[in-house]
Amino acid sequence: MAAEAKYELLRELGRGNFGVVYEAVVRRTGARRAVKRLHCGSPESAELALQEFRALKSLAGRHGNVVALHEAVLQRDGEASSLQCGHSEAYLNLVETALKGERIFDPGRAYYLWLVMEFCSGGDMNRYLLSRRPDPALNVNFALQLSNAVAFLHLNNVVHRDLKPGNVLVCESAGTPVLKVADFGLSKVCNVGSHGQATSSTTGKAWLSQACGTAFYMAPEVWEGHFTAKADIFALGIIVWAMLERITFVDGESNRQQLGSYVQHAGQLVPVGQALLENPRMELRIPRNRRSHIDTSVVQLIRKMLSVNPQERPSACDLIECFQQRVACAN
Ligand SMILES: Nc1ncnc2c1ncn2[C@@H]1O[C@H](COP(=O)(O)OP(=O)(O)O)[C@@H](O)[C@H]1O
Ligand SMILES: [Mg+2]
Repeated sequence: MAAEAKYELLRELGRGNFGVVYEAVVRRTGARRAVKRLHCGSPESAELALQEFRALKSLAGRHGNVVALHEAVLQRDGEASSLQCGHSEAYLNLVETALKGERIFDPGRAYYLWLVMEFCSGGDMNRYLLSRRPDPALNVNFALQLSNAVAFLHLNNVVHRDLKPGNVLVCESAGTPVLKVADFGLSKVCNVGSHGQATSSTTGKAWLSQACGTAFYMAPEVWEGHFTAKADIFALGIIVWAMLERITFVDGESNRQQLGSYVQHAGQLVPVGQALLENPRMELRIPRNRRSHIDTSVVQLIRKMLSVNPQERPSACDLIECFQQRVACAN
């Protein structure tokens, strides 16, 4: 059964280089879903799709702050098979294509991977926060939720590599909205320990060599093409700083306002990581605005998160401790 037959696609929610995300409904039950359709036409796109599928499959459903994956469907022309029911020939075609770096299937055939996820009605963090008045208590709560998510990823040896507000979704619930880290397209699952158990230290030691991510959230070392899990902590530092002071810029591609801190140089907005790479001794002005009331312990923490030396950045577990205290003070 084709993915379209099981799910009715209602509207487009977002579009990236390799895929489109739709709001969908399960025809049989009426349940809402978000469905990401990834085109797997080239070895590069097949690799990215498989990367996202593997990360989501290994993580999803195990942490409240990571988007849940309900099903993955591989579509080859009109045929579709669920990847939860073992590995089909179509799946093996895709793996071989990614591994060999050349298309091993008929170029005339269309290959798509559909990731069926929980639907987050609040949209992404940019849309959610920027359409509301600043709420300091909610901001620290979001910082804590993000730290919990990242601690979970790192304990499971996953480096996200593209943390930014557009990749964090909001589920509106009766109480505080719940954040869900999503878009694992650039994520890397690192080596797992000898007992099959992932440890944060292996993630910390695994140096990944590939410049990727979105410029404004990229740590200095990422600009040079290598980084560890600590690059996620840097990205989180940019997000938290921007969230607390509501610092935004307009993204050239989407023309939309995004939460993200930056440095101003000769009238230009320069990504913090890039500015630090050029001048590692640069002092960051945190808070940017003297009227922003940010607790000194949080200012210090953000500074540490944005350290040039990745080893000086705190772990996600350290962040949890600090933000937990701030949440307790805000209540
Ligand atoms: N589960 C979801 N629920 C609601 N909106 C979603 C969901 N997943 C993605 N979106 C929307 O689609 C956009 C793009 O999704 P994302 O997974 O980041 O894809 P891309 O790889 O194209 O960046 C997000 O910024 C968000 O607005
Ligand atoms: Mg994205």
